Amino acid sequence: MLETLKKLPEDPILGLMAAYRKDSNPLKIDLGVGVYKDEAGNTPVLEVVTQAQRHNIQAETTKAYIGPAGTPGFGQLMETLILGADHPAVLAGRTNTLQTPGGCGALRSAAELLKRCSKNTTVWVSNPTWANHIPLMGDAGLAIREYPYYDRETSGIQFDQMIAALEQTSAGDVVLLHGCCHNPCGADLTLEQWQRVAEVAKDRGFLPLVDLAYQGLGDGLEEDAAGLRILAAVVPEMLITASCSKNFGLYRERTGSITAISRTRVSRDITHSQLCSVVRGIYSMPPAHGAAIVETILSSEELTAQWYEELAVMRNRINDLRKLVVEKIAARGITGDFSFITHQKGMFSFLGITPEQVGQLREEHGIYMVDSSRINIAGINDANVDRLVDALAQVL
Ligand SMILES: Cc1ncc(COP(=O)(O)O)c(C=O)c1O
Repeated sequence: MLETLKKLPEDPILGLMAAYRKDSNPLKIDLGVGVYKDEAGNTPVLEVVTQAQRHNIQAETTKAYIGPAGTPGFGQLMETLILGADHPAVLAGRTNTLQTPGGCGALRSAAELLKRCSKNTTVWVSNPTWANHIPLMGDAGLAIREYPYYDRETSGIQFDQMIAALEQTSAGDVVLLHGCCHNPCGADLTLEQWQRVAEVAKDRGFLPLVDLAYQGLGDGLEEDAAGLRILAAVVPEMLITASCSKNFGLYRERTGSITAISRTRVSRDITHSQLCSVVRGIYSMPPAHGAAIVETILSSEELTAQWYEELAVMRNRINDLRKLVVEKIAARGITGDFSFITHQKGMFSFLGITPEQVGQLREEHGIYMVDSSRINIAGINDANVDRLVDALAQVL
């Protein structure tokens, strides 16, 4: 039976990582893979995570199952981090948060839940969106449509076209929005734009699904959640998937959450029971380790303060690099306005160069990025920025 299967082409990002590893150029630069890197090019374990982990090893008394919803403590703390303790939806008792295996586990659980609501659910995703959104939603059987988002000509958001598309949605449709630090383009909605999206959501009756994978890596923990909080205050129902991979550096520990905002307390309990049943049918229960680390950090004032500091170091480094690379490009006399890079948020931006130029950077200079010209800003550092800008000047 397995013989009937066909080998699939390699995933482009994994292929890029393999090509980078194989390249013997000592000056090669990796701007492809989507993980945070420090000045030395490492993705370190946060100091606060090491401390919490040490504490947990001492305190742990069992490895018994934790149940499909994960630990209530983690869910509660994540909900407060995402929505704030005094958000009207929280105060009204309309929210419920489950622990999931990373943001991907949350997204797939959301998709399966939505399919239970209606077999004909359509999910609208931004053009472009994170590539994995498509299989995470589509493989669950949901139909995918796109709304315009990023304008490659202006390197900004096509907001009027986005709104015009959202006005075509029907009640029962789902609109997937990036909470902050849009992947791949880095262009985020302003708070006024979030407000407008909220009005359209209320008017058309679509359900917003907000993917929050980079909270704290744009402008700050509160700032990065401000848009989705506006939306959550206006719409009757909403789903939020969150990832602790980037902001806690817990990538391989598979730590995330799904928050459902329901119309009433009664529907909150129904949604919770359905989500637990969805989870039972996919991965049964989430892994405990990463969430236990987050729970230990967020339940301690001291560790939380330390996490804020370490997160600020990552955020400030990314934002400083955005400024540095734009300054260097201008100083090198490269024509074209790259200032959009400083206005964008999070780890990613499109350089806006052609796939041929991307290929040239890879072949001739050992600089790796995905064909769309999405770069991981955190892959730049003081030691490689001049080489990157020189190479850019050559291919442009
Ligand atoms: C936009 C977006 N959503 C969700 C995720 C999921 O992250 P994870 O499953 O690693 O927590 C990522 C990871 O790169 C992402 O970029």
